[in-house]
Amino acid sequence: MGTGTELGVLDRGVEVRATQLLINNQWVGSVSGKRFETVNPATGDVIGKVAEADAADVNLAVKAARAAFNAGPWPRMSASERGRLLYKLADLIEQNKDELARLETLDNGKPLNDSKAADLPLTIACYRYYAGWADKIQGKTIPVSGPYFTYTRHEPVGVVGQIIPWNFPLLMQAWKLGPALAAGNTVVLKPAEQTPLTALRVGELILEAGFPPGVVNILPGYGPTAGQAIARHMDVDKVAFTGSTEVGHLIMEASAQTNLKRVTLELGGKSPAIVFADADLDYAVENAHFGLFFNQGQCCCAGSRLFVEDKVYDAFVEKSTARAKSRKVGDPFEKGTEQGPQVDDVQFNKVMSYIDAGKKEGAEMMCGGSRVGDRGYFIEPTVFANVEDGMTIAKEEIFGPVMSVMKFSSIDEVVERANATMYGLAAAVWTRDIGKAHAIANRVRAGTVWVNCYDVFDAAAPFGGFKQSGIGRELGEYGLQQYTEVKTVTVRMG
Ligand code: NAI
Ligand code: MG
Repeated sequence: MGTGTELGVLDRGVEVRATQLLINNQWVGSVSGKRFETVNPATGDVIGKVAEADAADVNLAVKAARAAFNAGPWPRMSASERGRLLYKLADLIEQNKDELARLETLDNGKPLNDSKAADLPLTIACYRYYAGWADKIQGKTIPVSGPYFTYTRHEPVGVVGQIIPWNFPLLMQAWKLGPALAAGNTVVLKPAEQTPLTALRVGELILEAGFPPGVVNILPGYGPTAGQAIARHMDVDKVAFTGSTEVGHLIMEASAQTNLKRVTLELGGKSPAIVFADADLDYAVENAHFGLFFNQGQCCCAGSRLFVEDKVYDAFVEKSTARAKSRKVGDPFEKGTEQGPQVDDVQFNKVMSYIDAGKKEGAEMMCGGSRVGDRGYFIEPTVFANVEDGMTIAKEEIFGPVMSVMKFSSIDEVVERANATMYGLAAAVWTRDIGKAHAIANRVRAGTVWVNCYDVFDAAAPFGGFKQSGIGRELGEYGLQQYTEVKTVTVRMG
């Protein structure tokens, strides 16, 4: 069975190898025979075509995953052996990290520097972290009344559907596969239609590592077809989703209308980033810049509501504007590039319409606002000052390189405004006053709070949202718990 190598080596030293569906350890075309194009966002050119999964392919993949779960070697294998396979996968990703970084940059548009410095190391660390957990998933013995011995087993949930977005394709695949596989589940994973290539290349490495058939199935395809088929499937025991809050609602609805499959969601955000006047201003400017503009602003936890204390507001806006103007936008493969294109034309147009809304509603545009160049989906780093809480750009997730700076004067006021949102994914505070730092950490309703730092991720530290930013946590031990069912066993003694 070929892996679809017709694309071969492209420019930039990128090789596109896997372009088919991975079902039951076989590379196959889709039942419909359909394929879809994946585009290089730096040029708008088609990279190549990938097999397009639909409901019929989801059925086949779920069947394979069910057979692997019920009767395959996977559940019978020792836990340490499952861990060893995950370590092997991490090693293989590490051995191929240069190729994977290039492929990620080609398909997503993120600077190669970022793929190499962030996406790949975090991906590898995530698989290793969960490899270590595989043989440490254990229940409890519980002292109940009467002549009984009661203990719990932490068993896998079963067949897990995983639907991931395009902003960190390799990393989101690792956040999903790592804990699911460590806990002994089998998986049907759908990469985002914008960025299917690295997920499929990891599929090849999964085969090379020696995972048994049906344990990991990878189905590129669109949301309303393949994604929905996973969310509605009667034989899928759990769905883990990362993406828009809008689709999060649909996933939950699909579960409610079918088999009450377990649902974990990691959704949008509008995270408050709070700068007090006592902070190291230059550091706060640089760190807040990073917290918003990193990954072209395409981060669920982007610090997109920047609250700055009135005493330093003007200085902060001036320095942030200068920093945004100096941000190097361009060819993501070029050394020194800080910002590449948005992932596709849809996202490009969405971000541009938010910039228009900011101007129309009376925010003050300090820099940026326009397209860069005439091909690809590049947008100038944009800073809006004098943003008010009611403006569209202060309320909705922009998911692009657009910073909104607001003014505050007291801690009670900023806490109230920070919490006046349907989201609750992340927050940050810059201050030298430990009392203020803890006040914000305790009072802001968000799943992660960064103090004097931003976007610090670690496979061991849980991540997820309060309110409509999601349900459940990923990473760490908390993330693992979402992939097990607790079984209580009670034995009559004597
Ligand atoms: P989306 O939520 O539509 O896509 C994310 C994933 O869900 C993709 O794999 C997609 O194919 C799948 N999907 C879409 N519709 C589905 C359905 N009906 N059933 C099952 N799966 C479905 O996000 P999209 O359209 O790419 O971006 C829209 C906005 O969502 C962005 O502008 C951003 O604000 C937000 N977003 C948030 C992300 C996060 O990390 N939390 C990641 C991507 C987008
Ligand atoms: Mg969508």
